[in-house]
Amino acid sequence: MSFLKRTHTCGELSIANASAVVRLNGWVHRVRDQGGVVFIDLRDRYGLTQLVFSEHNPEAAKDATSLRPEDIIAVEGEVARRDEDKRNPKLATGEIEIIVRKVELLTKGKTPPFEVSEYTQAGEDVRMKYRFIDLRRAQMQQNLITRHKLVTIAHEYFNAHNFIEVETPFLTKSTPEGARDFLVPSRLQAGHFYALPQSPQIFKQLLMVSGMDRYFQVVKCFRDEDLRADRQPEFTQFDVEMSFIDEEDVYEVIEGFIARVFKEIKGVELSLPLMRLSYEEAMNKYGKDSPDLRYELFIEDVTELAGKSGFGVFSSAVSEGGVVKGIRVKGAEPWSRKEIDALEVIVKENGAKGLAWFKVRENEIYSPIAKFFSADELKSIVAHFEAEVGDMIFFGAGPWKSTVTSLGALRTAMAKKLELTRKDDYKLLWVTDFPAFEFHEEDGRYYSMHHPFTSPRPEDVSLLDSDPGKVLARAYDLVLNGSEIGGGSIRIHRREVQAKVFDLLGISREEAEERFSFLLGGLEYGAPPHGGIALGVDRIAMLLAGADSLRDVIAFPKTASATCLLSGAPSIVDQKQLDELHLKTK
Ligand code: AMO
Ligand code: AMP
Repeated sequence: MSFLKRTHTCGELSIANASAVVRLNGWVHRVRDQGGVVFIDLRDRYGLTQLVFSEHNPEAAKDATSLRPEDIIAVEGEVARRDEDKRNPKLATGEIEIIVRKVELLTKGKTPPFEVSEYTQAGEDVRMKYRFIDLRRAQMQQNLITRHKLVTIAHEYFNAHNFIEVETPFLTKSTPEGARDFLVPSRLQAGHFYALPQSPQIFKQLLMVSGMDRYFQVVKCFRDEDLRADRQPEFTQFDVEMSFIDEEDVYEVIEGFIARVFKEIKGVELSLPLMRLSYEEAMNKYGKDSPDLRYELFIEDVTELAGKSGFGVFSSAVSEGGVVKGIRVKGAEPWSRKEIDALEVIVKENGAKGLAWFKVRENEIYSPIAKFFSADELKSIVAHFEAEVGDMIFFGAGPWKSTVTSLGALRTAMAKKLELTRKDDYKLLWVTDFPAFEFHEEDGRYYSMHHPFTSPRPEDVSLLDSDPGKVLARAYDLVLNGSEIGGGSIRIHRREVQAKVFDLLGISREEAEERFSFLLGGLEYGAPPHGGIALGVDRIAMLLAGADSLRDVIAFPKTASATCLLSGAPSIVDQKQLDELHLKTK
């Protein structure tokens, strides 16, 4: 059976088409029955077009009164100019309307659980359960289109720069990113499991051993981690690896790509090269290794001044080898005790013991701890922060890392409170010179900050034995508006350095063989100097779309508890399947 197949989309017609007879197909978006005349906005992916059912065609007008939002219809009619005062400048098709002659109901849908509108009040659970309805909303369609543009530009750009797209396996062995693996039981090998890749890290390095020279892939990665707004258990990377290169080559290729993305998707011209900050600078100034540079509020060091004061919390932090740091906030003097307590909760959640503060008033420093400081000390501290009457200074004291991290969290929270950020302001930077290893007190050993194949700086190799905590890695992160959108490194390509790093990480020869033999074998046969990066596609799409959650740029995302409300995954399976897989559930 044939229907009135469309000649145009709902986003296409303009005054240039006036008087043409056209057919449109789509969803009834809105119905306005004005007694005798019915107006319907017809919707498809391309836009909205106003249909008019009137006395020109009483038959069609009668049919129109029974149409409901989300019915799918086909219409035929004439394109008419709207009167000047009836035009809708907000709509691409706002200058015309269709005087309908024929209407055909293609599908009558159930009343949807929520309105298909940007103003929907529906909670996210309902939206995820009925994702196919949610994806009818213009905003969600725009988000997926933005993501599509991003992926298209990537394929074009990396192809033009001589990268070869190679697919790597999903049924594989554990990879070295250090999150928890998703496992897949093997039916053919009883008691054996595949791990879904946390990234194609080892395979892309092996492709360099093979001489592929430049590799690119748009690839799914799987990590069984605690989820947040910017983390999904399965997510997508633009994965890149290159041979015979150093850091500068990676920066150049990736900056060229990101600049093109911003130009084509946002019409924004980025100024290149991007700014670079070392990990230490980023932590000292912003308290975060992925700092948001859209606003000021810098962390300042007052260890020397504050350490000499009579305030025990400060002086003992300093005598124990720690630091005292603070942030000046302009105009915060009127903040209430309740507001300050809420900020204290935030720093405590981020490892601080407390939050000390000064309010700078005319002729007075108002603070519960002011009594511990001499007049001169108060004056010097206020001068150090260049604080003026009406400002507040917040202080943290303690070990370096937890102090800067907690003040970093305070900085982020205050930017939100003071509404200092604009979504259409884009601040990108590289963070470089990460420590190669982090010491974890809880089990008394070092862990790789990136992954164990990351090369130490050549000048630091000798420190591997004497002072591993001081070794810096040839690793880099790309940061956009406070979000880590990419990370990578120059790799170790010599076996003896790799063996040393495994020793340091307490990975025995046997364990290294067991876990990474396929990479180590490759290195033995000769690897060129190589390195690369992976960009977080979902995060970049989220920031480009101005969305607050990755879920808004993923067609079928998972909830915070890693379930799919639409399909009901994960689910219980029947006994037969378990038997075939040699599994018993506890
Ligand atoms: P890394 O682990 O830093 O590096 O990951 C690269 C980028 O992927 C994104 N990302 C995520 N996005 C959404 N949900 C998640 N759970 C998630 N985890 C990571 C981030 C991150 O910057 N193999 C190395 C890369 C390399 O060394 O070349 C790797 O995967 O934007
Ligand atoms: P206390 O002497 O513990 O009552 O603390 C006095 C003030 O100092 C309170 O406002 C605490 O929140 C704050 N404070 C306590 N420990 C720290 C710390 N490590 N850094 C900054 N402020 C702190």
